[in-house]
Amino acid sequence: MNNDPHRQVSIFQDIDALSRAAAERFVSLSKSAIRSRGMFAAALSGGSTPRRLYSFLGASPYCENIDWKRVHIFWVDERCVAPSHGDSNYKLVADELLLKAAIPEENIHRIHGEEEPGLAAARYEEELHSFFAPSRNPVFDLVILGAGVDGHTASLFPGSALLQERTRAVVPVYREKPEVNRVSLTLPVLNRAANVLFLVSGNDKADIVYEVLANENQKQYPAGRVQPTDGELSWFIDKAAASKI
Ligand code: 6PG
Repeated sequence: MNNDPHRQVSIFQDIDALSRAAAERFVSLSKSAIRSRGMFAAALSGGSTPRRLYSFLGASPYCENIDWKRVHIFWVDERCVAPSHGDSNYKLVADELLLKAAIPEENIHRIHGEEEPGLAAARYEEELHSFFAPSRNPVFDLVILGAGVDGHTASLFPGSALLQERTRAVVPVYREKPEVNRVSLTLPVLNRAANVLFLVSGNDKADIVYEVLANENQKQYPAGRVQPTDGELSWFIDKAAASKI
């Protein structure tokens, strides 16, 4: 494996063990951020892999160990669908976590996927700026990411010009039909986070995990370009996804 000293790679038996470890990480990072700054801001991804993490966070023993009044939930990206739609990343987190944990409504900062992507991106960018003010640069305490088989992460896809974005924190991502458009955080925001945690599971991810973690040309993949400047980067992978490294 490519031994990057700034990256911690942990391999777990299965998605259950991986998700429990991620829930423990969420608990410990929330405690230390709340102790030092009085709040904890986390940006969550969609996809199938983190669902179990969100359901663990909404249940014992994790739920009661988090001071939800001081936790702010943001999204890494969103599909441009209504918040009640089955593909909505807001709905995923709402079903598994928000309905169960006592998180004040004003602490839930969703992306308005039901709006035109450019408007939704501008509105979310404004929300980030007012939340993180006076800094114009959002710094999340924790960002949860996944990786697609093509190496995408968030809604940043291989070959996209959006990978060059330097000024905006949020961008609309226009997709070819039948894919739905999306809204996504950009690389500069992901790379400013204090902690970035990738969750990757399953056999079908073994090749991309090898490409990003063990090969030399990781920068060719959006997931490989997430390398926080001052923050900590962790990859939690299950055995199936780690089978080629
Ligand atoms: C999404 C995510 C996307 C996801 C990867 C991995 O909303 O789909 O933003 O980047 O994390 O596609 O998804 P899986 O966990 O489903 O493999």
